[in-house]
Amino acid sequence: MSAAHFVLAALAVAAPSMAGAAAPPGASSCAGCHSEAGRPNVAIPPIHGQPAAEIIAAMRAYRAGERPASVMDRIAKGFSDEEIQAIAAWISAQR
Ligand code: HEC
Repeated sequence: MSAAHFVLAALAVAAPSMAGAAAPPGASSCAGCHSEAGRPNVAIPPIHGQPAAEIIAAMRAYRAGERPASVMDRIAKGFSDEEIQAIAAWISAQR
């Protein structure tokens, strides 16, 4: 198998539910903590597959300082409403 084939196969596995839809800017950084597979780390809740509206509401509340957070308040401040919507739509489509 050539290197190109390997890359294509890896991409197909990474995004099975949204063929052709690349992750919007910033979305891949979320997976560093909130991994798709879930990690054996109870402190970080899984978010993949959550309704987009819930992710958007949580991000806005973190950004406004209305939701208790250790790190998400600072992370949420780095994103505009448009970016949060794009990221939430993408994450909610991940299974
Ligand atoms: C540095 C690790 C880290 C990164 C990166 C990160 N998160 Fe989080 N996230 C957390 C932690 C920890 C919590 C629990 C709240 C807290 O302590 O801040 C959380 C909570 C959340 C929640 C609430 C989940 C729930 O069910 O209560 C949402 C939604 C969320 N993050 C979305 C995102 C998005 C979207 C991104 C990417 C833009 C992201 N996170 C990046 C660590 C991270």
